[in-house]
Amino acid sequence: METTINYTEKIPNNVNLTEDRTLQRALEQWQPHFIDWWRDTGPDGSTNFDVYLRTAVSVDRDGWAQFGYVKMPDYRWGIFLNPVQSANTIKFGDHKGQPVWNDVPGEHRANLRRIIVTQGDTEPASVEQQRHLGLTCPSLYDLRNLFQINVEEGRHLWAMVYLLHRYFGRDGREEAEALLTRRSGDANNPRILGAFNEKTPDWLSLYMFTYFTDRDGKFQLSALAESGFEPLARTTQFMLTEEAHHMFVGESGVSRTIQRTCQVMNEIKSDDPAKVRAAGAIDLETIQRYLNFHYSVTIDLFGADQSSNAATFYSSGLKGRFDENKRSDDHMLKNETYRLLHVVDGKLVNYDWPMLNALNEVLRDDYIKDSIGGVERWNKVIEKAGFSFRLKVPHKAFHRKIGALSEVRVSPDGRVISQAGWNANEAKWLPTAEDRAFVASLMGRVVEPGKFAGWIAPPAAGINRQPINFEYVRFN
Ligand SMILES: [Fe+2]
Ligand SMILES: [Fe+2]
Repeated sequence: METTINYTEKIPNNVNLTEDRTLQRALEQWQPHFIDWWRDTGPDGSTNFDVYLRTAVSVDRDGWAQFGYVKMPDYRWGIFLNPVQSANTIKFGDHKGQPVWNDVPGEHRANLRRIIVTQGDTEPASVEQQRHLGLTCPSLYDLRNLFQINVEEGRHLWAMVYLLHRYFGRDGREEAEALLTRRSGDANNPRILGAFNEKTPDWLSLYMFTYFTDRDGKFQLSALAESGFEPLARTTQFMLTEEAHHMFVGESGVSRTIQRTCQVMNEIKSDDPAKVRAAGAIDLETIQRYLNFHYSVTIDLFGADQSSNAATFYSSGLKGRFDENKRSDDHMLKNETYRLLHVVDGKLVNYDWPMLNALNEVLRDDYIKDSIGGVERWNKVIEKAGFSFRLKVPHKAFHRKIGALSEVRVSPDGRVISQAGWNANEAKWLPTAEDRAFVASLMGRVVEPGKFAGWIAPPAAGINRQPINFEYVRFN
């Protein structure tokens, strides 16, 4: 398998597409539909912009070397799989130790297709959610980062569509079409998962989304990167290299917002939210409410805490755990248990449950550990500026819509409360219409190179060692 990507072809790829004429033709038929979808739902009004983007030239570690100006509809979307893995046996489940599959095993076909479609559906959804943000960008640097994420989510869609076309015949082709017809937030034909139908109306939402929700992507892709279905493992391994930048945009974006807020609080010698707002920055209380929202909506994406599907996906070797290889158990889990939370007599209680049926919770808990790290780094910014306020992720039972915990109302600090107690406090815990209107009021478009909106600090460094005042996007 070559690691160099062939850009002389209509569809750049490292899967020798020319050798499979039927597949090549099918994908070349899908391609114009994809471009139509991009023009309809991709970044608003951006068709003619020259954007300083990175394009993958190979799937090696240094494969991201190529930066240059690209008009986004001309971005080289394509099909890139990681080189063949060193392990050639299935690492977990009932088929553990057997050779990996290079074709779809008949008995697992429906489940595998469902997994690929569900993952694939999130990719175009986020592009749709972010469609209008370019109109209110806080800088050229941020605008370029938004567009980079958008084109890569588009490529992630390609990655899943390749698998559908290559391995699933007619129903795969139908699913690939359906991925272009569902729309985020559409009442009649919505995207599959809840968080991907929420709005991303402002840049604070975007940074929270890319920190928290793209991190859900990291964990789902990491679990699929363990798959016994080799093409899925290899394509998700390459997608993970793209995901890292998305989470960086989120973490640094929130961090720069906090940095600016602290600067303003020091200037006006007050941490009173009303005064902070009057000075044009986003008060830390509002940032906490946004965090509560995005965190709780995102942890729902891992699904119900008890799930027979999760057990089936694992036992069939289709979807592993995060860092499957680093775990010291038997990788079959038939005799293991895992601690879950549920509600008894109005109290949250731990109980042990067969681990196979609790694998959604295992992945959710791994995610929670990982996502707390960035919040601690944000707190360092506040601490350094001399303020005692600390951001905190809410309790995992807070504001849940899926699983056993969705049946109760729980405060951010983990107390089970009544509906009346919830109603009395919701505006303290989740963004209100007024919060959103205030944040929206700050979103003016800043496109002069090196200039930044007043509510956010400049980044520490530019992209690809370019200066911060580099012309990251040229409007034509
Ligand atoms: Fe993605
Ligand atoms: Fe992403």
